[in-house]
Amino acid sequence: MSLVTTKKMFENALNSDYAVGAFNVNNMEIIQGIVEAAQEEKAPLILQVSAGARKYAKPAYLIKLVEAAILDTGLDIALHLDHGEDFDICKKCVDDGFTSVMIDGSKHPFEENIKLTKEVVEYAHSKGVSVEAELGKLAGIEDNINVDARNATFTVPEEAAEFVAKTGVDSLAVAIGTSHGAYKFKGEPYLDFERLKEIHSLIPDTPLVLHGASTVLPEFVKKCNEFGGDIPGAQGVPEDMIRTATKYGVCKVNIDTDLRLAMTAEIRKHFVEHPADFDPRKYLGPARDAIKGMVQHKIRNVLNASNKR
Ligand code: G3H
Ligand code: 13P
Ligand code: ZN
Repeated sequence: MSLVTTKKMFENALNSDYAVGAFNVNNMEIIQGIVEAAQEEKAPLILQVSAGARKYAKPAYLIKLVEAAILDTGLDIALHLDHGEDFDICKKCVDDGFTSVMIDGSKHPFEENIKLTKEVVEYAHSKGVSVEAELGKLAGIEDNINVDARNATFTVPEEAAEFVAKTGVDSLAVAIGTSHGAYKFKGEPYLDFERLKEIHSLIPDTPLVLHGASTVLPEFVKKCNEFGGDIPGAQGVPEDMIRTATKYGVCKVNIDTDLRLAMTAEIRKHFVEHPADFDPRKYLGPARDAIKGMVQHKIRNVLNASNKR
């Protein structure tokens, strides 16, 4: 039981039909809900921390909470920096004991992204830490646009192969139509699976990562809206699309929005049904249980990662 890198997890997941869940964490209840689910499901687990999470909770608290989770559950957990925007934040996390970092150079031109990613890879690898990079832009897109427009946004397979060869990165986040948040598609959900297959065929040994992979469970959207929320038209990636992605090299599936929705739905419900409560444990406890249930559902039915530890 310890902090582990993603190396073994991805080796096992690469030529299989399951993926490792990478869940964003911001506080104790979120961490506890996720790890309890992973423990019961005997699933491999990545907990990831964004720059926003570091700012909100402070780095030391998050690291110590993850260490506490390992102590409490006996799980091996990978601790990953999500969307590191420059060398400095990646270096800080490597030095703090993270076992994996993401350098997100996707906003830079191709050559600059290569240069930045290479720099992070050199430093992280010298400390035994894995690196994820991103190529392409994560944005929802209409399904009837032409190939040129898609190439301008989505990951170009030949570029992915060149990028991995030149940077030595351990895993690659690809843009195939997913996007962050609760409003992923205007019309019918669409992911470019032909592109994903091509990328996977060109770099079959590179684990691929799917960001923006929350399914936005209707149950939680409905509950939020029923109990005073206002999130109409929320739509995520259908569960069967995530299952399909795991067959073509996707080893890591990023989930944040679904955690936020599960937690918020339960807290909203609690406040409406128990207006006299003001002990945070009364509403954070059920919120933690909701996260656990959602993550268990995800591990079993979407990631197919039960008993893969
Ligand atoms: O990719 C974005 C994640 O959902 C993290 O979000 O930057 O608000 O913590 P955040
Ligand atoms: P969601 O917004 O779909 O949960 O995506 C989270 C993510 O990609 C974190 O990096
Ligand atoms: Zn992301």
